[in-house]
Amino acid sequence: MSITYEEFKREASRLCGTDLFLYKSQQMDRRIHALMSFWGISDYDEYLNVLKTNASRYQEFVKRLTINVSEFFRNPDRFMELWEKILPELLQRPGLVRIWSAGCSNGAEPYSVAIILNELKALDRAVILATDIDQEILEKARKGLYYANEVKSLPPDLREKYFQKEGDFFAFSPELKRRVDFKKHNLLLDPFPQEQDLVICRNVVIYFTEEAKNKLYREFNQALRMGGYLLTGGTEPILYYRQYGFENVSLSFYQKRGLPQPEEEVLRRSLP
Ligand SMILES: C[S@@+](CC[C@H](N)C(=O)[O-])C[C@H]1O[C@@H](n2cnc3c(N)ncnc32)[C@H](O)[C@@H]1O
Repeated sequence: MSITYEEFKREASRLCGTDLFLYKSQQMDRRIHALMSFWGISDYDEYLNVLKTNASRYQEFVKRLTINVSEFFRNPDRFMELWEKILPELLQRPGLVRIWSAGCSNGAEPYSVAIILNELKALDRAVILATDIDQEILEKARKGLYYANEVKSLPPDLREKYFQKEGDFFAFSPELKRRVDFKKHNLLLDPFPQEQDLVICRNVVIYFTEEAKNKLYREFNQALRMGGYLLTGGTEPILYYRQYGFENVSLSFYQKRGLPQPEEEVLRRSLP
């Protein structure tokens, strides 16, 4: 008798090094089963075996489960606010500005930030870390080669200035490319980089359960310096931001202001 779906999901989680139960089950289950029927696999034992023995199918599995659609200056209003308000404010602080694009996909997000920093003449003042769980998409990001449809969201003057046509591709400026440090990182498992001034995590948590999001927001808060910002996706407002130590400063921007005092702590301090 073949293993159950639950057992398959548990084993596949172990194999991928990420807990598939922390992703919203409806979407996750749909994607897992879509691949299963696409590959003509009839039971979960066989499915698991394919993932263990066939490297390209394993890669495809990870990729399909963690869809990596992205674009340059995605939701331009948010990038304009970064450009005109948030980054200039962070740049007024002493020392290097640490920026982390978490779930960076093909690099369009951290490279958009690099473009803004260059326009602000502040590339030397910042460190940009870009992470994703998907090794394959990170390799694409490091190459910085994009098809025409992947750069169409860029304002034409910026596309002209920062991309060189190379055959079928638009190649991102090597000088700016060097400024982004791409690393593999699983948001549900790995320790978070600390002392960040700006964390950009957009269109990633939509796939996570409430429990996983809860943990993530706390960890993002800890990863930030006091007064640092978290930028979320347009459809990912944080409802109870104060409980994670944030203030909502504008649409999608949350500033670290410290955690509210737990009631017991306030009580203990007021006792003689
Ligand atoms: C839809 S893309 C978002 C890309 C970019 N942030 C944007 O908004 O354009 C989601 C990315 O999250 C990544 N991802 C999914 N689960 C992850 C996890 N547990 N840890 C790190 N990255 C993850 C996927 O590989 C994918 O590249």
